Amino acid sequence: MFQIRIMMMIVVVLMVNAACVVAIRCPDCGKTPVPYPLSTTPLCGHQSYKIRCDMGVLKFVTGRYTYPIISISQKNQRLVIGPSDLLPNTCVTSDLGNEGLQLNTSLPFTITQSNTVLFFNCTEPTGKLAYDCSPASACNPCQNGLPKMSICRKTPRCCTFRKGSYTNLYSIQLNIDRCRAYSSFVNVNTSLPFTKWPNPGVELMWAPPPEPPCSSQGHCDSTSTCRDAHDDGARRCFCNRKFRWDANAGQCTKDLKKVKAKRKVLGATAVCIGGTISVAVVFAITMFIRRQRIKAARKRLACERQKILRTSGGGKSSKIFASKEIKKATNNFSSAGLLGVGGFGQVYKGVLDDGTTVAVKCPKLGNTQSIDQVLNEVRILCQVNHKNLVQLLGCCVELEQPFLVYEYIQNGSLYDHLHGKNKRPLTWSERLSIARDTAEGLSYLHFSASPPIYHRDIKSSNILLDSRMRAKVADFGLSRELAQADVTHVTTCAQGTLGYMDPDYYWNYQLTDKSDVYSFGVLLLEILTCQRAIDFCRPTDDVNLAAYIKRIVSEEKMVDAIDPSLKKDATPLEIDAMKAFGFLAMSCLEEKRENRPCMKEASEEIEYIMGIVATRLELDDDGPDN
Ligand SMILES: *[C@@H]1O[C@H](CO)[C@@H](O)[C@H](O)[C@H]1NC(C)=O
Ligand SMILES: *[C@@H]1O[C@H](CO)[C@@H](O)[C@H](O)[C@H]1NC(C)=O
Ligand SMILES: *[C@@H]1O[C@H](CO)[C@@H](O)[C@H](O)[C@H]1NC(C)=O
Repeated sequence: MFQIRIMMMIVVVLMVNAACVVAIRCPDCGKTPVPYPLSTTPLCGHQSYKIRCDMGVLKFVTGRYTYPIISISQKNQRLVIGPSDLLPNTCVTSDLGNEGLQLNTSLPFTITQSNTVLFFNCTEPTGKLAYDCSPASACNPCQNGLPKMSICRKTPRCCTFRKGSYTNLYSIQLNIDRCRAYSSFVNVNTSLPFTKWPNPGVELMWAPPPEPPCSSQGHCDSTSTCRDAHDDGARRCFCNRKFRWDANAGQCTKDLKKVKAKRKVLGATAVCIGGTISVAVVFAITMFIRRQRIKAARKRLACERQKILRTSGGGKSSKIFASKEIKKATNNFSSAGLLGVGGFGQVYKGVLDDGTTVAVKCPKLGNTQSIDQVLNEVRILCQVNHKNLVQLLGCCVELEQPFLVYEYIQNGSLYDHLHGKNKRPLTWSERLSIARDTAEGLSYLHFSASPPIYHRDIKSSNILLDSRMRAKVADFGLSRELAQADVTHVTTCAQGTLGYMDPDYYWNYQLTDKSDVYSFGVLLLEILTCQRAIDFCRPTDDVNLAAYIKRIVSEEKMVDAIDPSLKKDATPLEIDAMKAFGFLAMSCLEEKRENRPCMKEASEEIEYIMGIVATRLELDDDGPDN
């Protein structure tokens, strides 16, 4: 008897162990499927993603409160919950005791930016920047149109939380002294009449589960290997070659794309591998590979040239220049016209026969990696056309040496203006519009280019300013376009510039639009503080600007970090706007990339801050009533 019990215990232990490793989808709750990783019992799903199944109805539990789950989308890792109901005959939501909806910050759920959050029964204005409590606010049609909210019409005021503001992604905060009720609508167009609005709901997003933890190979199946993780030191079952971690299924699946993509990636990895293998034997091989690569690059160059020539017939496409023309324009690359030197090669100023001033970029001779980068840039710039991206006028793809010919941007780089000597400090409104322009350029690359393009090297020296101080994003040498629109990340070697690089990308080599958002956050800090992204003149712990400002913000001293030339004559409202700008930067630097805004949201937020600065008189006249 005793032995049987032990046997049974072992079986149970084995089963529980297996549940940690192989994804088990939870059984349906009533008629509703419960997709992985959501978990209704300890034996299925992933235990960080607990929800509840109460008599056929799914519920989301946080703290002492329970919210009904209205819908779940596994594909987008999102679910919509019903906002808390009002207490009978009052305009007070039942979760007021919890200060509203509060998610546990150590769990993988966050509140998305798709929600329009409305607050009711507010007395004090809740801070001018983030809330709209005007008579035109979208909360009015809601309390007039939704019968159960009509009781809130008797209260002093209602407000709408501005979308894209520096939301706390873990809570919809109520406060007994300010607002006592809320509602929320997902993806609502508030300009439509209320009858066209969707039902109330709060959309939450979950971070996909990482590979399961393990302590030995026995915990992993045949598709994965138990290894140390990059970041947290834990060991996990990482997928073997030719397999890819599918977070939605919770297992490694055969990666068909990777097999095809391998050839392309090989070029880039060769450089990475080159660094790790040492010893002299490799030298011979490297030479061989190098010769092969030069050969291959030449072939590609010829191929690319053909393609460019072929497409140059239709639409916006670039002109093909002869190398003679370029030599003449740049006065045979005279050093007087040298505009800049980078890892890739040089940029010269030139004047074409028709009088157009241009910038000519030449990769380092014989360096196939920089030739690859140039070709990459041609390919990408030929597809994009936006006022905030530097325009490619044409290229010269003769076999030995490709050149790129761009529009010439008069006023140099943002870096020069922020850190260069003999430059007048940029004004606050110039800085705002530079930030907005950059955000719009990047937003175009991420959302309007098809497939999306990630810049991967956003920094102040790559932001150029024209005669009217409008910003244009330059240098697409490292950019990547995604092969497939539905791929959420690509794996590559970490490249980019120290101080601007997304730490998450650095550790996991997963490229997403949020890596550009991180670099953009560093850029915003640079604009606000006029400090370099990396500066060894600062104390050791503060060398990295992002870390330095994070520390200052945690001490609630953000104002101290603002560029003194900005603070000098600023009104209190302008200081508030600068702080909002700083908080936006901080949200771009969030460690969890899901918590960072996307470029579109960042650009809307800057636009919004610009609105505050522009309408300051109007707001100042509002008095304490609003
Ligand atoms: C508004 O909130 C106050 C404070 O909690 C509450 O006493 C009052 O009943 C609420 N108003 C309505 C109309 O319910
Ligand atoms: C948040 O979740 C963690 C992990 O499940 C748990 O240990 C902690 O008690 C939770 N905190 C609150 C406030 O519920
Ligand atoms: C919202 O609705 C208005 C009025 O119908 C329309 O003009 C506007 O384009 C819509 N906005 C969005 C983002 O769909």
